[in-house]
Amino acid sequence: MSLFDQIDKDRLPQHVAIIMDGNGRWAKARGKERSYGHQEGVVSLRKVVSAARKLGLKFLTLYAFSTENWNRPVEEVNALMSLMVLAIHRETPLLMENNVRLSAIGDLSRLPEDAYSALKECMALTAGNTGTRMTLAISYSSRWELTEAVRHLAQEAIEGHLKPEEITETTISDALTTRDMPDLDLMIRTGGEKRISNFLLWQASYAELYFTDIYWPDFREEELYGAILYYQRRERRFGKTSEQLIL
Ligand code: IPE
Ligand code: IPE
Ligand code: MG
Repeated sequence: MSLFDQIDKDRLPQHVAIIMDGNGRWAKARGKERSYGHQEGVVSLRKVVSAARKLGLKFLTLYAFSTENWNRPVEEVNALMSLMVLAIHRETPLLMENNVRLSAIGDLSRLPEDAYSALKECMALTAGNTGTRMTLAISYSSRWELTEAVRHLAQEAIEGHLKPEEITETTISDALTTRDMPDLDLMIRTGGEKRISNFLLWQASYAELYFTDIYWPDFREEELYGAILYYQRRERRFGKTSEQLIL
């Protein structure tokens, strides 16, 4: 039976996030520039998005560029931003075909003008699509997001709209950039590192973690299906005992 057929479509994770890592090492292993790895990474993105649609995944969030990635050499940052503009223009028709709605989280005010407008345009065009919600985390980090949220709540309190005792987990969740998404069920990281790198720390509190040595440019449909099957083999206890779950 194929991996796709083995997946129980009634027990899909609602929200899957991917740390797309390993582009540079993938390219280096082939004697190429790091940017070649990023280009191939866009192909993986396309394949994974269409696999997500085929499965019927509701929320797919992809770490494309972290706050810390601004510290890379300026040539690489520029190449990544240009690639983003190119990829958005090239892939938008496919998003429409696949009924995928694009959104973005992160400090978009730091993006170059052309990248920002390409992103905005694609989000507006796909806003009515009802299939998979694909969110790109760009210029994103969890600590940036949490800092923004705390500032917002403090302002609300100062203005008298919020008492400290009224702050609940829901208030905090609602102050994050993911406010209209469910918590993360599955976090995937490619490229061999076993770390979270400042990604969705609050939202991943009870996520299943899946680490693979496969570099992102080699992560295609079958690898996504494999990760979902791993997820479906986990017992999610949320603090309870196994016995309680059977009752
Ligand atoms: C992930 O691949 C893409 C981004 C962070 C933009 P890397 O560029 O981090 O590739 P490695 O980890 O150096 O191989
Ligand atoms: C994490 O990858 C960020 C993205 C995939 C966009 P990095 O390659 O930047 O992560 P670290 O710095 O090695 O942890
Ligand atoms: Mg990396």
